[in-house]
Amino acid sequence: MALFGGVNMNKKTMRDIEVTGKKVLVRVDYNVPLDKSGNITDDTRIRATLPTIEYLLSKNAAVVLASHLGRPKGTVAPQYTLLPVAKRLGELLGKEVQFVDECVGPKAEAKAAELKSGQVVLLENLRFHAEEEKNNADFAAKLAKLAEVFVNDAFGVSHRAHASVEGITKYLPAVAGFLMEKEINFLGQAVSSPSHPYVAIIGGAKVSDKIGVIGNLLAKVDTLIIGGGMANTFIAAQGYVTGKSLVEEDKLDLARSLIEDAKKRGVSLLLPTDVVVADQFAADAASKAVSINNIPGDWMALDIGPDTSKAYAAAVKDAKLIVWNGPMGVFEMDVFAKGTEAVAKAVAASEAVSVVGGGDSIAAIEKVGVQKEISHISTGGGASLEFLEGKVLPGIAAINDK
Ligand code: 3PG
Repeated sequence: MALFGGVNMNKKTMRDIEVTGKKVLVRVDYNVPLDKSGNITDDTRIRATLPTIEYLLSKNAAVVLASHLGRPKGTVAPQYTLLPVAKRLGELLGKEVQFVDECVGPKAEAKAAELKSGQVVLLENLRFHAEEEKNNADFAAKLAKLAEVFVNDAFGVSHRAHASVEGITKYLPAVAGFLMEKEINFLGQAVSSPSHPYVAIIGGAKVSDKIGVIGNLLAKVDTLIIGGGMANTFIAAQGYVTGKSLVEEDKLDLARSLIEDAKKRGVSLLLPTDVVVADQFAADAASKAVSINNIPGDWMALDIGPDTSKAYAAAVKDAKLIVWNGPMGVFEMDVFAKGTEAVAKAVAASEAVSVVGGGDSIAAIEKVGVQKEISHISTGGGASLEFLEGKVLPGIAAINDK
C-alpha cells in the first residue's frame, strides 16, 4: 500500500464500484487557456478526460461534468463561461454535450434529473459561486444531489480543498477517474518508490517558487539539475558576478545551504557552467554565450549555455526516472529557448520513465514534437509541484480508500 504523508494513496477507481446505469458527477479540470476572443488555445486538459467520460458512457452512465475556469472569485463573469468548453468537448467526443448555465439550483437539478444513460451535460463554472472555494458544506451537498456517484478526474485542482473537490466526498461515494489514477501512479512513483538513477530537472524564474520541491527532491534523487532564472541565484551564491541577471538576493543563503545539503547527501547537483547573456530583456537583444565567470556587469543571463546544455543532456542519458518541471531559460523568446529545447530532446531520447509538469516544459516538449517519447505529461501545474513536495493533496486524500 503506497502511503505518503501518512495518507493511503491506494484509492478506489471507477473500476472498483458499480457505475453501470448510474448518474455520475465527474469533477474535471477544464481550466484551459483562452485567447482574447474566448477561443480555447490548448485543449490538452479536455482531451485528457476523454478516457474517463468514454468509459462511463460505455457503462451507460449519465455523465454530469463540473469544472472551474479561471478565477472569477465568486461572481458571474461571462468571460469565464464554460460554454466554449462544452462545444469543444462535443467535437472531441463526437456526440452532443449539453450545457446548463448554472452548477447548483433548479435548472441544474432539473437537467441532471432528466439526463438519460449515455448523455453528457457540462455545468457552468463552479467558481461563479464563492461557496466553491470556501468548501461550503451546503454547496457541496447541493452538487452531490445531482448524482449517485462522484468521480474526481481533476488532478490539476486536487491541491485545493474546494467544495467540488473535497467537500462533496462527504455526501457521495468518491472514486478516482482514469486521469487522476494515471497522475497518482506516475507522480506517486517519483515520490514514494523511484527507480534509480533518478534525475530531477528543475527550472523556472524563482528559487522561492520551488524551495519545497528542491528540498524534497534532494532526499530522493541521484542528480538534481537546476536551470532557468533561478539558476542565477545559485550562480551568485557561488560568488560569481551575475550582472543584471534576475537574482533573489534574499535567497543566496538558502541556495548555499541547498548546495551544501546536496554535497552531504551525495547528490550530484548540476548548475550552469555557461549561460546565454543579453544586453536587454527582449527577443531582439544582442546576445552571446559566456562562461559563468565572464558575465558582463551590464548584461543578463536568459538561458543556459551550450556547454551546460550538453552536460545536462549527458546527465539524463542513463537515468531510469526523470522528473522535469520548469524551463531552462526565457523559453517564450526563441533566441533564449535553446537550453529548454535541448533538455526536452534529451529527456525524450532517454530510456527513462519521464514525468514532465509545468506549462513551459510541456510547451517545449510540444515545440520539439516529442510528446510521444514522454511517459507522462502531467495536467497539473501547482498540483504536480505540491505532490512532488510530498504534500498531501486534499482532493486526493478525500477519494475513498480501496
Ligand atoms: C491550474 O490551472 O493550476 C488549476 O486549474 C488550479 O487553478 P487555480 O490555481 O486557479 O486554483
